[in-house]
Amino acid sequence: MATLQDKFDLLNKKNAEAEAGGGPEREAKHKARGKLTARERLNRFFDDGSFVEVDKFVTHQCKNFGMEKQLFLGDGVITGFGTVGGRYVYAYAQDFNVIGGSMSKTMAQKICKVMDMALKNGAPFVGFNDSGGARIQEGVGSLAGYADIFHRNVMSSGVVPQISAIIGTCAGGAVYSPALTDFIYMVDGSSHMFITGPKVIKSVTNEDVTMDDLGGAAVHNSTSGVAHFNSVSDEDLIDQIKYLLSFLPSNNVEDPPFVATDDPSTRKLTEINDLVPPNPNKGYDMKAIITSMADNGAFYEVHASYAPNIVVGFARMGGQVVGIVANQPMHLAGCLDCDASMKGARFVRFCDAFNIPIITLEDVPGYLPGTDQEYKGIIKHGAKLIYAYSEATVPKITVITRKAYGGAYCVMSSKHLRGDLNLAYPTAEIAVMGPQGAVDIIFAKEISAAEDKKAARQQKIDDYTEQFANPYRAAELGYIDEVIMPEDTRIRIIQGLMALKNKRDSNPPRKHGNIPL
Ligand code: HXC
Repeated sequence: MATLQDKFDLLNKKNAEAEAGGGPEREAKHKARGKLTARERLNRFFDDGSFVEVDKFVTHQCKNFGMEKQLFLGDGVITGFGTVGGRYVYAYAQDFNVIGGSMSKTMAQKICKVMDMALKNGAPFVGFNDSGGARIQEGVGSLAGYADIFHRNVMSSGVVPQISAIIGTCAGGAVYSPALTDFIYMVDGSSHMFITGPKVIKSVTNEDVTMDDLGGAAVHNSTSGVAHFNSVSDEDLIDQIKYLLSFLPSNNVEDPPFVATDDPSTRKLTEINDLVPPNPNKGYDMKAIITSMADNGAFYEVHASYAPNIVVGFARMGGQVVGIVANQPMHLAGCLDCDASMKGARFVRFCDAFNIPIITLEDVPGYLPGTDQEYKGIIKHGAKLIYAYSEATVPKITVITRKAYGGAYCVMSSKHLRGDLNLAYPTAEIAVMGPQGAVDIIFAKEISAAEDKKAARQQKIDDYTEQFANPYRAAELGYIDEVIMPEDTRIRIIQGLMALKNKRDSNPPRKHGNIPL
């Protein structure tokens, strides 16, 4: 009969077997590429000693193609929960060294189990993805597993934050669960995501493309916009996710974590008083205002390399987490194009879902005109930003620094879309369009009839500028609550956040709206 010690030894043996993953040879190859193993990733992610693994001894049930001989305890994924900064988070990490981290039916069941736990317990869910996609030998069983995960991603959306790390080569189904989550991280040089790899592309379309050009971190962070954050190593990626979590509530009925600050809420931003140039054709860096007004200058930018004409990200002001959306006059003069509209809309909706007040800094001459944008669908994409701001019920504070022309005035959290506090600098210009464009339309006949056309046009431009290119018409109508000095930006926003702390607002009951997708 087995002794008690034998039974303990068996457990130790099984634990060691599960922890060995795909074996020392594969692990050494993996590490030689500068990567952490799945276990090392989770160890770095969770607070020391807090990680609790579940389903460590699960194995797949597939008997096709000799798979019954390829059994690994845990079946290529580590699942469980622990604390990050003292708050519970549920996670999985795929092990590429076990059958390419491919998705079996049982792997999916393991992932679904922790997703269900995260949802029931109102905790964020984080996936470290390193997988060749559906386990080909399992056929429809693995596809069913993916669909089970996708469904849970959708049900968890807007209830708990979901974050995906692409921390290896992820193909096929391995990219669609991340695509359904809130934020995607990649590692420059070592992570890829694509629906099919270069070999399949060559056979289907005869196109030659490298892994990096097809789905590397640079491509997805800047060209496709699929990824939200880039990182330089596995370690950097993990640390960045922990930093992001520090801004987020655990779920949609909690407030984001308050962190008391030694940065005075009465701090004047004298350094930005002369930032906005008097010449409306000159650009300036909107990020200078953001870092100047945020607690201790800390701003965590989302989608930093994609659609840089709009800047979005997280900061704290007076200790409260805020989501910042800002037009960037340094790129495309801050115009809203298709990409910027989608980027802004998605961020606004995330903030609204998770009780994060939205601060909008506005300097935008309008939607970007031209056939390129019209053909790409600027009408429907631009509408997304209107929709997102309009449905958002979190506190919304807007500061117009300079241009607020046309539709862009309406969209950027205007009073009419339920902006709570709408402020403007003395440099603000709020009108249907800029002086030159306006004069050429409404005074075309008068100018062409004038003897000195150039002088007549300039006179009209000067008149228009004096009458309309300022914040006072809007202030007279109550569309701007206060015209403020730039140096008072931080003070006024923090006062606003405190006054709006208990804001309650809602939308009409309905199954769901129909955002123009
Ligand atoms: C089973 C797989 C696998 C898979 C990799 N492996 N992907 N096993 N199913 N999907 C195994 C390999 O056979 C190999 O096993 C080991 O994992 C390592 O893979 P390598 O190819 O040697 O690694 P590497 O050269 O780094 O290439 C990585 C890769 C490549 C680019 C990811 O493996 C690949 O192209 N895999 C298939 C990708 C793909 O097309 N997936 C789509 C599946 S369909 P051994 O024992 O030889 O080391 C899908 C549909 C879902 O996902 C749709 C949902 C919407």
